[in-house]
Amino acid sequence: MARVVVFDETGAPDVLHIVDEPVGEPAAGEVRIKIEAIGINRLDELLRAGTGPRPVRLPHARLGCEGTGIIDAVGADVEGLGVGDAVIVTALPTMDINGTYAEYTVVPANAVIPRPTGLDAATAAALWVSYSTAYGALIEKARMRPGDHVLITGASSSAGLAAIQVARQIGAIPLAVTRHSAKKAALSEAGAGAVIATDEDDLLKAVQQQAGPAGADIILDFVMGPGLAELAEAAAFNGTLVSAGYLDSRPAPFPMKAPLTMYRYMSFEHTLDPTVVRRIAAFLTAGLRTGALRPAVDRVFPLDDIVAVHRYMEQGQQRPGKIVVSV
Ligand SMILES: NC(=O)c1ccc[n+]([C@@H]2O[C@H](COP(=O)([O-])OP(=O)(O)OC[C@H]3O[C@@H](n4cnc5c(N)ncnc54)[C@H](OP(=O)(O)O)[C@@H]3O)[C@@H](O)[C@H]2O)c1
Repeated sequence: MARVVVFDETGAPDVLHIVDEPVGEPAAGEVRIKIEAIGINRLDELLRAGTGPRPVRLPHARLGCEGTGIIDAVGADVEGLGVGDAVIVTALPTMDINGTYAEYTVVPANAVIPRPTGLDAATAAALWVSYSTAYGALIEKARMRPGDHVLITGASSSAGLAAIQVARQIGAIPLAVTRHSAKKAALSEAGAGAVIATDEDDLLKAVQQQAGPAGADIILDFVMGPGLAELAEAAAFNGTLVSAGYLDSRPAPFPMKAPLTMYRYMSFEHTLDPTVVRRIAAFLTAGLRTGALRPAVDRVFPLDDIVAVHRYMEQGQQRPGKIVVSV
């Protein structure tokens, strides 16, 4: 038997509870992972609350699209992976069935990659979703190049910090946006070429000061909400805006700015494609090796505190870095 977090109805954090269940056996093409650490994501909160991009299968839904652990059983026809391998989960669109909030999960073998050497479990749990999203949005989607000025909103989020480092890794210039001037030093320290704090700076003027009057080549927006139209005005002629999050859930006006290429981005677009996953893994491994990529952990909670974890995420008080659960 093993402990699994489930919920039978959507709602507040306390719909989550822990049950004991038999450990599943991997079928052909699958592996079973003994989970060591789980990365907590905003998507988990949305699915639990019933406000996510798709409905969950209730009752007895599981949660968690991110995690790392050790393979402890391998199904037939799996090549290149074995018992004892440390791995990271790369994509779990069926997380309501086999989510990572558990002691064990069974996943397709093509939904894991080897854990980069030298990463402890908590740091490895903070890596994949934020960095693959930043890589996919900026490099695969927006075709970011060295020298590009890249405006990043929600820059102190885990995904935002990853985007700053991914931009730096290829020689682009990340311009970080936060709502709070108190976070300026931390974002400069994290690698931002400049930090724009909306509690004291005029966004458009600040972008033009940094990128020149033409504006930003790429905007990576993790916030959306009513500020989207003004944000788009900061884009260069023929610039690119990738909308990859919705930290502000209020309605967003459609930008008038033209010409502007806009994408709505979800990382599954790339993390379900094994060819792109190989590129992402190679990029991340290289960045970790050189120190350009430095996944940050805010706090580590035990699995028993899962309700408190979701309350903490909802309060939005975390320091820059990922909330992680140790199993
Ligand atoms: N497209 C994808 O596949 C994908 C993948 C992963 C994440 N995401 C999205 O990326 C976003 C960030 O996720 P995360 O887990 O990295 O977030 P996180 O670490 O929880 O982000 C927390 C930070 O977001 C900023 N923030 C919070 N509410 C805000 C608001 N109403 N307006 C502006 N900024 C706000 C705050 O920064 P300041 O206080 O400094 O302003 C806060 O420190 C989420 O919307 C998430 O859904 C998308």
